[in-house]
Amino acid sequence: MRVMLVAGARPNFMKIAPIFHAAAGLDDIECLIVHTGQHYDYEMSQAFFDDLELPKPDFFLEAGSGSHAGQTGKIMIAFEKVCEGQKPDLVMVVGDVNSTLACSIVAKKMLIGVAHVEAGLRSFDLEMPEEINRMVTDAISDYFFVTEQSGVDNLLHEGKPKESIYLVGHVMIDNLLRQEQLLDNCGSDAFPTGSLKKMLGDYLFLTLHRPSNVDDREVLAGIVATLNEISARLPIIFPVHPRTRKMLDLYDLQLADTIHQLPPLGFRESLFWWRDAVMVLTDSGGLQEETTALRIPCITLRHNTERPITVEMGSNVLAGNRPADIIAAFEQTLVGECRRGQVPPLWDGKAAERIWAVVRGSG
Ligand code: UD1
Repeated sequence: MRVMLVAGARPNFMKIAPIFHAAAGLDDIECLIVHTGQHYDYEMSQAFFDDLELPKPDFFLEAGSGSHAGQTGKIMIAFEKVCEGQKPDLVMVVGDVNSTLACSIVAKKMLIGVAHVEAGLRSFDLEMPEEINRMVTDAISDYFFVTEQSGVDNLLHEGKPKESIYLVGHVMIDNLLRQEQLLDNCGSDAFPTGSLKKMLGDYLFLTLHRPSNVDDREVLAGIVATLNEISARLPIIFPVHPRTRKMLDLYDLQLADTIHQLPPLGFRESLFWWRDAVMVLTDSGGLQEETTALRIPCITLRHNTERPITVEMGSNVLAGNRPADIIAAFEQTLVGECRRGQVPPLWDGKAAERIWAVVRGSG
């Protein structure tokens, strides 16, 4: 069975890695990697392939940045050619980025089976481009691989057949557990930022890149002022996403010296920082889950989450993006009012194995 595993943007790479590695010993599966090129900078792409021990992709589509339609269209045109040549039996897409949407549509129209890993998640916020990507991909997928019960419930509510829905756990947590082991085996001198960590003592770890937080001047200015205030209490480590860098420069917003700005970090170096942080502040989907898995307090700078289990069971608190709310969540977490939570069912490092068992069983 020829399976094309699609990845395009940073959060995809850690999801395809365990799936690819778990296919290595399977004689009946030929697993090919397609990199759409949605993310292309070394720090946003190749650094991840290196950390995740992924080989050079079999196909690189060079989509690059652009408007949503421009980027999605470029990926679709290039991926159609790959599918025409390769005739895969199954296209496996992960997550909710534009590459996920583009490649699932192309495959389905060519009558190729589509498997969606991380299916069923819903924020119910149609202003998020990812929500549209999730809904459209799920509308045409044949296999739904789901990370948490809410995903199963959403898919059933949308009328998807029960026999196509598989609660398998979370491939991103498979990767996290593997990377934690690798990190334990290398000393802090392994990273350029290791000396800063030794110097700092307690610190917070921040990521910020959602359009709803960084594209509007007033919203971003409010967040920056709040973070500057918080960093006077505890220093903040901040690897800056390219979108956020652009907007900070455009709006001429100044971060305090107590916010240590770093370039985007590779997976392992990022983990090296956040797993020892007093708390994580983020608007990333993945970090809400990864902090839950390692039981690190997490304040999410969004009003909603498509990953409710991280709030119901895990260590995540939804604070929104208004200054007073962020400060309140920070204060509560600092005095230990936020729980460290529990690890959700099946987030045990075996999700990729379960996915292949399903695909092979029904192939
Ligand atoms: C994309 C995903 C988002 C994911 C995020 C993680 C969509 C709709 N969005 O958002 O779900 O959480 O990736 O990072 O798929 N840029 C670079 N170098 C790169 C990539 C991008 O400089 O390697 C710059 C470009 O100028 C681009 C901007 O960053 O305009 C935003 O990149 P884009 O891929 O459009 O969206 P993200 O915000 O990264």
